[in-house]
Amino acid sequence: MSAAVDVAAVTDVPDGGTLRVEVAGIPVCLVNLGGTIHALHDTCTHARESMSGGFVDGDRIECPRHGANFSVLTGEALTPPATTPLPIFGVAVDGGRVLVDPSPSHRHPFDI
Ligand code: FES
Repeated sequence: MSAAVDVAAVTDVPDGGTLRVEVAGIPVCLVNLGGTIHALHDTCTHARESMSGGFVDGDRIECPRHGANFSVLTGEALTPPATTPLPIFGVAVDGGRVLVDPSPSHRHPFDI
């Protein structure tokens, strides 16, 4: 990981919950799965809803607007109406802080 960005304390992200942060101007949804923090692009690939308002169920997150499910681990779109994966970001934890790699796994489809 290079140029990782310190975005939050681990304790800011509730277990089974989310926290919206920004990394180099990109909205990012942190998800805490049993004490492991994951990071996804916060903008749903269907119609731009904020994923951090969504619902975590196991290793899935459900968009609060139309209900598409994405894998928290890979960003894969698992159920319609979304068909395009969410970019994911590398995460490290150091001294109780969450560090996010600002380079996403792939370009978000709504990025120009
Ligand atoms: S905006 Fe997320 S499923 Fe439609």
